[in-house]
Amino acid sequence: PVTVFPTANSASISVARRIADIIKSKSDGEKTVLGLATGATPVKVYAELVRLHREEGLSFKNVITFNLDEYYPMKPLAAQSYVAFMKENLFDHVDIEWKNINIPDGTLDADYLQAYCYEYEQKITRLGGLDLQILGIGRTGHIGFNEPGSAPNSGTRLVTLDDLTRRDASHDFGGKENVPVKAITMGIGTIFKAKEIILMAWSQKKASIIKKAVEGEISSDVPATYLQLSDNVEFILDEGAASSL
Ligand code: GLP
Repeated sequence: PVTVFPTANSASISVARRIADIIKSKSDGEKTVLGLATGATPVKVYAELVRLHREEGLSFKNVITFNLDEYYPMKPLAAQSYVAFMKENLFDHVDIEWKNINIPDGTLDADYLQAYCYEYEQKITRLGGLDLQILGIGRTGHIGFNEPGSAPNSGTRLVTLDDLTRRDASHDFGGKENVPVKAITMGIGTIFKAKEIILMAWSQKKASIIKKAVEGEISSDVPATYLQLSDNVEFILDEGAASSL
C-alpha cells in the first residue's frame, strides 16, 4: 500500500511512531530488531526518535539494529562512513548499547568478506529476523545498495556502485572520483525477510523513480520494483514524491 502525507515531516513522525510502537509492544527484556537506512531520507525519522527518547522516555536498551549498507572500503571514523552518519543522527543521542549495533564493516580484508557477509545474514536470522526494515530509494531504483541487476534472492554481499549513485554521493566526498567504487549491502532477499518494510521517499526529485517502483514492471532493472511482490511493504511518500502516481 501507498500512503501519502502532506509533508516529509509529518510522514517521518508517523514512521518514528510506528518504530516506537514496535519497541513498546515487546514484553520485558524482549528484543526489537530494526533494519536501518542512511541517506537524507530517514534523517527526520531519527530526529523524532531522539525526541521521543528525550521527552517521552522511549528506550533503546532492548533494541538491536542492523544497517543496510556501508561503502567499501570505508573506515568507521571517516566523516562519510555510515557509522559516522548513524552516530550523529541517532546512536549518540539514545540509550542503545554499542554491542547491539551492527553496520557492515568497511575495513575488512577482501578475503574475509564472504564469510563476514554470511555471518551478518545469519546473525539476523538467529535473532528471529528483522521486525521492521526502513528504506530510502536511490535514483537508480536501488534499495540499500542493491543496484540494477540485483537478484531478488540476493543476500548480504559486496557490490559495485552504479555511476549515477556515485555521482549522487559526490557532494559528500568532494568529487565523484573520491566515492568508493564498491559497497557492502544487505541483499534484496535479506530485506524481504523482514516482517515489515517501509520505503520512504520525499520530494519531486524522487517522483519518477517512485512511479517506476510502485507502478512499473517488476524487473531487476529497478530493484525497488521487487517490493511490489511483498504484502508487508508500505510506501510512505510526501506529496512531491507521489506526484507522478
Ligand atoms: C544511498 C543509500 C540508500 C539510500 C539512498 C537514497 O545510496 N545507500 O540506502 O536509500 O542513498 O539517498 P537519499 O535518502 O539521500 O536520497
